[in-house]
Amino acid sequence: MSEVNRRFLLRERPAGRIDDRTFELVEEAVPEIGDGEALVRNRWISLDPTNRMWIGETPTYLPPVAIGEVMRAGALGEVVASNSPDYHVGQLVQGLGGWQDYVTASASAPMMAMPEIPGVSPSLFLGTLGMTGLTAYVGMFDIGRPKAGETVVVSAAAGAVGSVAGQLAKIEGARVVGIAGGAKKCALLTDELGFDAAVDYKAPDWREQLKQATPDGIDVDFENVGGEIMDAVFSRLNIRARVALCGLISGYNDDAAAGADGPRSFGNLLIQRVHLEGFIVLDHFQRAGEIVPQLAGWMAEGKLKAQETVVDGFEQLPVAINMLFDGANTGKLVVKI
Ligand SMILES: NC(=O)c1ccc[n+]([C@@H]2O[C@H](COP(=O)([O-])OP(=O)(O)OC[C@H]3O[C@@H](n4cnc5c(N)ncnc54)[C@H](OP(=O)(O)O)[C@@H]3O)[C@@H](O)[C@H]2O)c1
Repeated sequence: MSEVNRRFLLRERPAGRIDDRTFELVEEAVPEIGDGEALVRNRWISLDPTNRMWIGETPTYLPPVAIGEVMRAGALGEVVASNSPDYHVGQLVQGLGGWQDYVTASASAPMMAMPEIPGVSPSLFLGTLGMTGLTAYVGMFDIGRPKAGETVVVSAAAGAVGSVAGQLAKIEGARVVGIAGGAKKCALLTDELGFDAAVDYKAPDWREQLKQATPDGIDVDFENVGGEIMDAVFSRLNIRARVALCGLISGYNDDAAAGADGPRSFGNLLIQRVHLEGFIVLDHFQRAGEIVPQLAGWMAEGKLKAQETVVDGFEQLPVAINMLFDGANTGKLVVKI
């Protein structure tokens, strides 16, 4: 057990990208646990685009992290001491553990028990078999509802949610087009993950690539990015298309997430009688027991391939988070501590 609890506290709200002034590293005593509490040693920390929204001024679906508070994040850890009948030493648990070595679990701050599956990295419970997979499932099946032969477009397609969402649409028999940055990510989509086509939005001719890849228009947009990419996709939506509005990452560093500028092709949503629905995965956590085994089944059958980028070292957290905005991750980004 390390003798101190390293913690990253929010020092100042970034006006743009997270930089070396945003967080302060402190070392505190490992928390003492009281009756009904358990001590959890965080092992894996989930890095998510929404983390950037949580440190902005504007309240989102959760209140902003306060200045001086530990950085909020999903984390997976191991119970190392327990005074609670709900937790036992050695158990793997998940919750909002934050950017710190140790966190206390209790009835008022519960953490969820995770199974240990031989051959499966626990980090997947933060990714394809966790929040990421749940997000992709809800957005694709509840809102996108692709039918065989329809055209589905997924943006940030080589990322955590996008890579799963696209593969789920393939399982339904749709024609799936992924939008991602760079030839390498596009090749991953088509050569390894089974996408029918990929659009490299960093190439000068990306709009033409999108047109070529969607000759029959677009029936489902799984929207992760917003901005110009969303605009181009909206302009190609078919009659009665569905848009699963999952995220708007292109605006998060401008603190414009909640009210990201509206698309220029907005009128096409009216003309084509489009159904657009925003969703937040937190509202669907109670369905994990039904959805995660389904995702695990597809993984076991080889129909769903989990992608992840693992960064080693607690101290890397404030640097690694920017990988999401630089496109330096493929699949789920986690930090192993
Ligand atoms: N609604 C929900 O409950 C929920 C839950 C989880 C995630 N989300 C949202 O889903 C989206 C994806 O999240 P994730 O966790 O799966 O992250 P991710 O896709 O693994 O990582 C972000 C990726 O977005 C791409 N990107 C970053 N900035 C961009 C820009 N300006 N233009 C185009 N692409 C950009 C990068 O890929 P490239 O290399 O391709 O640029 C990057 O790798 C985010 O918008 C996130 O907020 C929503």
